[in-house]
This record gives sequence, C-alpha cells and structure tokens, in this order.
Amino acid sequence: MAAAARAAGALALALVLALAGANSEGDALSALRRSLRDPGGVLQSWDPTLVNPCTWFHVTCNRDNCVTRLDLGNLNLSGHLVPELGKLEHLQYLELYKNNIQGTIPPELGSLKSLISLDLYKNNISGTIPPALGKLKSLVFLRLNGNRLTGPIPRELAGISSLKVVDVSSNDLCGTIPTSGPFEHIPLSKTSFFGIHFLWLEVLSDRMLSTSFEKNPRLEGPELQGLAVYDTNC
Ligand SMILES: *[C@@H]1O[C@H](CO)[C@@H](O)[C@H](O)[C@H]1NC(C)=O
Ligand SMILES: *[C@@H]1O[C@H](CO)[C@@H](O)[C@H](O)[C@H]1NC(C)=O
Repeated sequence: MAAAARAAGALALALVLALAGANSEGDALSALRRSLRDPGGVLQSWDPTLVNPCTWFHVTCNRDNCVTRLDLGNLNLSGHLVPELGKLEHLQYLELYKNNIQGTIPPELGSLKSLISLDLYKNNISGTIPPALGKLKSLVFLRLNGNRLTGPIPRELAGISSLKVVDVSSNDLCGTIPTSGPFEHIPLSKTSFFGIHFLWLEVLSDRMLSTSFEKNPRLEGPELQGLAVYDTNC
C-alpha cells in the first residue's frame, strides 16, 4: 500500500515536472511581462502557475496549445522587449503596436520561423533593425514605422520572398532602400525623394504612391543596382 502510494506520488511529481517543462512558452511570456510596465493591468490574467498560457488574455494558441498570436497593440505598455520571445516558435502574429515600448529589437526575434506579422509600429524603439530578421521566411507584414530606429535597412530583408508590406517610415534610418526580391513590388514614395536625383524619379515613376519609407531624413532613396554608392552617410 505504502509502495503504491509512493509510486503514485512519484508519478504525480513526474507529471508536474513534465507539465512545468512544457510551459516554456508561458515562461517566455512571463519574462516579457516582467520587462513591461502595465499601468492598465491588461496582463493581470497572465498567471505563470497555469499549465500553459493559452487561457491568458491577449494570447491565442493552436490546437496543440502552442502560442500563435500575441495581441498587445494599443494597451499603454512601456518597458522593453525580451530575447525570450524568440522561443515562441509557432508564433504567427506579434502585435505590439501603439504602445510606448523602448529599447531595441532583440535579434532573437529572427528565430520566429512561423511569424507572419511583426507589428512594432508607433512605439519608442531605438537601435538598428537586426539583420537576423532576414531569417523570418514566413513574414508577410513588417511594420516598424513611428519609432526611433537608426542605421540601414538590412539587405537580408530582401531575401524574404513572402514579404508583402513593409513600413519603416518615421524613423531615423539611413542608406539606400533595397530594390531586389520582395522590395521590387513594395511601393515606394515618390514625394520622399523628389528632387534628390533625376534618375530616381524615373525608377519610381511606375510605382504607386505610398509612404512606406518617408520621414527618414537620412534615407537616400532606392539603390540603383550597379550604380549607386550604397550606405554613404550611414
Ligand atoms: C497610460 O499609462 C500612463 C502611465 O504610464 C498613465 O498615466 C495613463 O493614465 C495610462 N492611460 C491609459 C488610457 O491607461
Ligand atoms: C523614448 O525613450 C527615451 C529613452 O530611450 C526617453 O527619454 C523618452 O522620454 C521616450 N519618449 C516617450 C514619448 O516616452
């Protein structure tokens, strides 16, 4: 009897440990929560003692209880992003737009191989756009506009063939805009570069008007393959 009870106890302990181990996604999100200020208490339901984060508000999981969406846009959050976010390998939508998030974009976000949408627009994010984001081979939407990002637009982004929408306007980026790969089809603004170089007007003349790259005073316009001096002043 005692032996059976001990065995049951050991089994229960093993189960608890297995479940705890299986909650690495909850741990990653808890790390994010600890790094954010949340004056509105919108993350109150994020209870790290639950077996997984799938019942937490603003978190969506698939049928296998893996996190696929994080919907934290427009919630008055401040603080920093954390490298642990890179562990959410089934994450498809990372929505953190219109908050007051500071600090840099962790290069670990490049590990999010299922990511479709990276929306960090209208925050207070600084530093450079990590070239590691070029590893996001499922990415369709990349919106980083309205932050304080510096440095060039990484050429690695031109290798994401799924990319359809890029907006990096209203930052402090420099250098030239890639024109290869998905960037061939991403509309550029005519007005942003008006008057800088006659040739660019011809390059741009068949593109739709858009504002994806505007309001980056040090951004020099699209690169001209084989012609332009890249990333001068950058
Ligand atoms: C947003 O947060 C600030 C403090 O960071 C607070 O003063 C303000 O009331 C909050 N606004 C809303 C709508 O929660
Ligand atoms: C943006 O972040 C900087 C620090 O990196 C801070 O000084 C500034 O006040 C922030 N802006 C806003 C609007 O919170």
